[in-house]
Amino acid sequence: MAIGQTVFLNGGYRPVAEAAISPFDRGFLFAHAAYEVTAVYGGRFVDLEGHLARLRRTLAGIDIPNPYTDEEWADIHAGLIEHNGMEEGLVYLEVTAGAYGLRDFAGPETFTPTVFFYADSRPLIGEVARDGIRAVFREDSRWKRRDMKTVQLVSQALAYRAAKAEGAETAFMVEDGMVTEAASANAWIVDSAGRLVTRELSSSILPGITRAGVFSLLKGSGIDLVERAFSPDEARAAAEVFTTSAGAMIAPVVALDGQPVGDGTPGRVTRRIQHLYYEALGADVAKVAPWCLG
Ligand code: PDD
Repeated sequence: MAIGQTVFLNGGYRPVAEAAISPFDRGFLFAHAAYEVTAVYGGRFVDLEGHLARLRRTLAGIDIPNPYTDEEWADIHAGLIEHNGMEEGLVYLEVTAGAYGLRDFAGPETFTPTVFFYADSRPLIGEVARDGIRAVFREDSRWKRRDMKTVQLVSQALAYRAAKAEGAETAFMVEDGMVTEAASANAWIVDSAGRLVTRELSSSILPGITRAGVFSLLKGSGIDLVERAFSPDEARAAAEVFTTSAGAMIAPVVALDGQPVGDGTPGRVTRRIQHLYYEALGADVAKVAPWCLG
């Protein structure tokens, strides 16, 4: 991970050391802010249109006026990776409801947003994708509008801390006896018939852009997909488990609550999905991910 030293804040690129925002910013005081995380692979953005569409929805949902057109958003993204010489990694953006010099729950009638971007250069197809991650189950204590990508992330931060304390890398969130999603990714299982199962979209989960990307790759692949919720027991008994997110793309889950999933190594269907996904990115799969060529 290498944080690029040029960030974008409120209309201009500047050195990170010179980027400052007000302590009265509503992002800081109320977590009143939207964010997006978009992958960059081979110098190109992965599904930027999908991320921008979701950003538009989140902003509308939390009453923040959208300060830019999609074209302007795309230009800022492009400028940021150019300034930082980034070829592979993640671009983070945050749009808050702005600062007004006081703490007032309702705030002004119309918000003037704060817009912040940074670039994080890192390999996206690495050890996590090759070897997998371990997860623990944890009660989902988030607010009810998880379909909006807001920075209200304390539940997820605590879930990650609990996972780490138990020797795992992530948590699967559970509500009413069913898995909603992983702490910062969508959750999938492969059932005994080799079908993919992932929860249907609703306000209970984030509509993942990587999830949508995998859906489109399944057409014509011969792999069946079922959109429904699954329980922790079903996940424990599943042939394979994996997560999808911009950050880790397709991450095999090799243990749940300390017990191996399947034989404890990434499974055949997961490898196939990784292969399809990396190929669609334009990756040289034989070079960067030979382990997914089964
Ligand atoms: N997280 N669900 C949650 C709760 C998430 O936070 C994320 C992404 C996803 C996957 O969405 P996408 O495929 O669009 O990345 C699902 C990002 C990467 C993060 O917070 O860092």
